[in-house]
Amino acid sequence: MTTVIRVQGMEKSYKDLRVLRGVDFEVAKGSIFALLGSNGAGKTTVVKILSTLLKADAGTATVNGFDVAAQPENVRESISLTGQFAAVDEILTGRENLVLVAKLRHLKDPGTIADTLLGRFSLADAGARKVSTYSGGMRRRLDIAMSLIGSPPVIFLDEPTTGLDPQARIEVWDAVRELAGQGTTVLLTTQYLDEAEHLADRIAILHEGRILVHGTLAELKQLLPPATVEYVEKQPSLEDVFLSLVGTNH
Ligand SMILES: Nc1ncnc2c1ncn2[C@@H]1O[C@H](COP(=O)(O)OP(=O)(O)OP(=O)(O)O)[C@@H](O)[C@H]1O
Ligand SMILES: [Mg+2]
Repeated sequence: MTTVIRVQGMEKSYKDLRVLRGVDFEVAKGSIFALLGSNGAGKTTVVKILSTLLKADAGTATVNGFDVAAQPENVRESISLTGQFAAVDEILTGRENLVLVAKLRHLKDPGTIADTLLGRFSLADAGARKVSTYSGGMRRRLDIAMSLIGSPPVIFLDEPTTGLDPQARIEVWDAVRELAGQGTTVLLTTQYLDEAEHLADRIAILHEGRILVHGTLAELKQLLPPATVEYVEKQPSLEDVFLSLVGTNH
């Protein structure tokens, strides 16, 4: 198995605030890796360091074989980043946004690239509409589609589904799975346990500046004792009262 992202001893402080205190993890090629942590745990900080937007205070990190501090240009050519807040242009249509990025990357046939991505992210029907008319889920999908232009081997998704409804989240998950299926390495951050559970091949929990645990879902579940059955006396809830009054059958 090829390691595409390797982080060793990563430290980062903002003045007196020690956010990362020695973070270590590795991500295998073509896998989906979830960095799980609560608000302020340092997830975006890790993503910013790996995408060369921020310098670490200590430690080493390589992405696609390149050192983030010593070879930032090579790292940038290997990655795409979808930030925590959607970066789509409201005034343009979905298709125009995609064409624009393809042109900025000097790719041949931007129109075909745009149409292919619109189809892949179920946006073909909405492609000619201004993004200002899109739902949150559509914006997020367009944002991810934009980050795939040029087929980078590594993609970083910072909280890809925050604020989306369940249906839109599933659509984003499907798109992410498809990417990994094609060999793209995905590092995503999330504060949703179920997102990590459904999507990730491996999960790392970032807490108080360090990776607390790291492994597959099955490995993480083994850290807890097996489920026990307890009998508790239960006060009726409003739901119980409601159901006993109106009955469970309509
Ligand atoms: N530029 C900065 N200057 C000072 N403090 C910062 C800066 N950026 C982040 N922080 C602080 O560092 C900590 C980690 O922030 P970070 O954005 O990495 O967390 P996060 O895990 O991405 O959180 P969230 O889930 O809210 O996105 C927070 O306490 C934040 O306030
Ligand atoms: Mg964040």
